[in-house]
Amino acid sequence: MTTPRTIALDGPAGVGKSTVGRLLADRHGYLFLDTGVLYRAVSLEAIRRGVAATDGAGLTTVARNLDILMLRAEPDSDRMYIVRLAGEDVTDGLRSPQVEAIVSQVSAHPDVRAALLERQREIARSSRSVLVGRDIGTTVLPNADFKVYLDASVEERARRRHRERLAKDPLFPYERVVEELKHRDKLDSGRAASPLRIPEDALVIDTNGKDVEAVLSEIEAEMGLQR
Ligand code: DC
Repeated sequence: MTTPRTIALDGPAGVGKSTVGRLLADRHGYLFLDTGVLYRAVSLEAIRRGVAATDGAGLTTVARNLDILMLRAEPDSDRMYIVRLAGEDVTDGLRSPQVEAIVSQVSAHPDVRAALLERQREIARSSRSVLVGRDIGTTVLPNADFKVYLDASVEERARRRHRERLAKDPLFPYERVVEELKHRDKLDSGRAASPLRIPEDALVIDTNGKDVEAVLSEIEAEMGLQR
């Protein structure tokens, strides 16, 4: 098999797609795009402009005019990337509780998705790239050269998320992370526009009990990539 040019990496929230995708991209010379950032940026900008999460037309205007720049973080930084909106560093704001609260609802609007589609395809055309998201293999890049779907039980994903959460908030209950993920899964899989689905031709990896390196090795072996 020749080395793939475009890699689609999908899966549910908290499965480790961004970590795996980022490392895969860095080690093998691909550009990395975490497409969740686009939906988060629309959500943040909407909050700032007072556009409600139910206002499809207003959100679509925000999405069409999004002045976004995604940059690589310094290698020694604990950030995976830096995101600027109209020049302002909003990287931390994209993970705020206010954005978390509406992003699934924002991303369910079909016109918002349509407005972000071409941007994602443009990036994939510009360079060898790894795109990470929910609908990359099914909708954004149905002809991607290689498709991976990462899966894990909600309990396993919650354990990983909870560990990260405890660093910021030592008393945050595990049960709440489970509930948040279940809610997110329901919205991401239940929406009409591009719901989370396993692409027919994807390599499906059950990541339960596996660390990042084990998952990466499986992908590399299947793709014929040498480290
Ligand atoms: O991966 P994430 O948690 O940053 O994604 C945030 C939200 O965006 C999530 O609710 C699903 C949505 N999303 C999407 O609908 N399609 C994508 N390609 C990526 C993310």
